[in-house]
Amino acid sequence: MLRRLRLLTAGESHGPAITAVLEGMPAGLELPPGYVDEQLRRRQQGYGRGGRQRIEQDRVRWLGGLRFGRTLGSPLAMLIENRDFANWAEEMAPEGPEVRRRQVRVPRPGHADYAGGLKYRARDLRDVLERASARETAARVAAGAVARRLLEELGIELCSRVVAIGGVQDTSSVAGLSIAEIRERTEASSVRALGAEASAAMVARIERAQREGDSVGGVFEVRARGVVPGLGSHVQWDRRLDALLVGALCSIQAVKAAAVGEGIELAAAPGSQAHDAFALPAEGGPPRRTTNRAGGIEGGMTNGEDVVVRGWMKPLSTLPRPLPSFDWLRGEPAAAHRERTDSCAVPAAAVVGEAMVALVLADALLDKLGGDSMDELRERLALLWREPPPFAGRTAS
Ligand SMILES: Cc1cc2nc3c(=O)[nH]c(=O)nc-3n(C[C@H](O)[C@H](O)[C@H](O)COP(=O)(O)O)c2cc1C
Repeated sequence: MLRRLRLLTAGESHGPAITAVLEGMPAGLELPPGYVDEQLRRRQQGYGRGGRQRIEQDRVRWLGGLRFGRTLGSPLAMLIENRDFANWAEEMAPEGPEVRRRQVRVPRPGHADYAGGLKYRARDLRDVLERASARETAARVAAGAVARRLLEELGIELCSRVVAIGGVQDTSSVAGLSIAEIRERTEASSVRALGAEASAAMVARIERAQREGDSVGGVFEVRARGVVPGLGSHVQWDRRLDALLVGALCSIQAVKAAAVGEGIELAAAPGSQAHDAFALPAEGGPPRRTTNRAGGIEGGMTNGEDVVVRGWMKPLSTLPRPLPSFDWLRGEPAAAHRERTDSCAVPAAAVVGEAMVALVLADALLDKLGGDSMDELRERLALLWREPPPFAGRTAS
């Protein structure tokens, strides 16, 4: 999925740590102290998260690839300790005697327990759920933060917002807002919504779910501004940036659909109202568009407008009032396994979505421009504009 960068994560939810190795970042990228930790902190926020977030205070420990706050061009190795491991040291011991006090025997419909149990022939379904858990996304957010820093250096800004929770929609428009303004408003909302009224209604929806022993999903949006045109390509199916972005969003646990721009709505619209018409300004200069229904991608390539993608997250499957299931070892009916859980993780998923979009965009940039150092990358970016497109010389009509 990534062409120039390589990312691997490892670690179990209640094991000693979550880790990431990111390879392919150019040398000389500055990472100010606390930069990655701030993104990890954002992932832990959001109304509706469970008790785990009170235990963890995620911080990255660098094990490789960084020296004096700058990337070396070698693989970046990051470790995020699981503080909760202290409470699971025997049950999750990497070595030593088997302690299965917290064995999982009843698969949760909608989680990885059943399919993973079949696939890996697990007797204790904890062997599956520990890695299926979205605690893994801490590693993605750490790696994504590095990609985000690279994009920032090249003038590309990212933000996200939650547009729906449990059927409650935020219809606020981002028109005319800078990325900084969108960030300011969403960071002030406990559910990362833009509109204050919608934010309150979403919180009320989560509280209702909690009272009912239930969970809720929703929709988030990620936006990137300042993206150079020509990332991705139409020439081969696996180089189309829309496919890569949608795949990256759907790789996030519980995200079951994703769309570029207004992709879902456009399927019902007539063509005349589905595309972004060009207008040539009378004063000369490049063509402009007043809409961005395409979400900044045409023909699998960025077109210079904001890149806008959305992810649809299903309700979480660990339920305080569990669904009917069965005992995996005895074959008898039983209520699904219960474990400490979030009731809504859409705000956190939005932050993970930012990380995934940052990784895909950084990868596409490096794929286009190459460069082993930041200086080389900057030089090559500047070269993109040396030959101006034909319309650049257009004079007023
Ligand atoms: C940030 C985040 C937090 C999550 N927290 C929980 C949780 O507390 N309880 C739960 O049952 N699922 C949670 N999930 C979803 C599960 O990890 C996911 O449903 C499971 O791994 C099965 O994968 P699937 O839903 O993609 O099929 C979370 C997902 C994300 C992105």
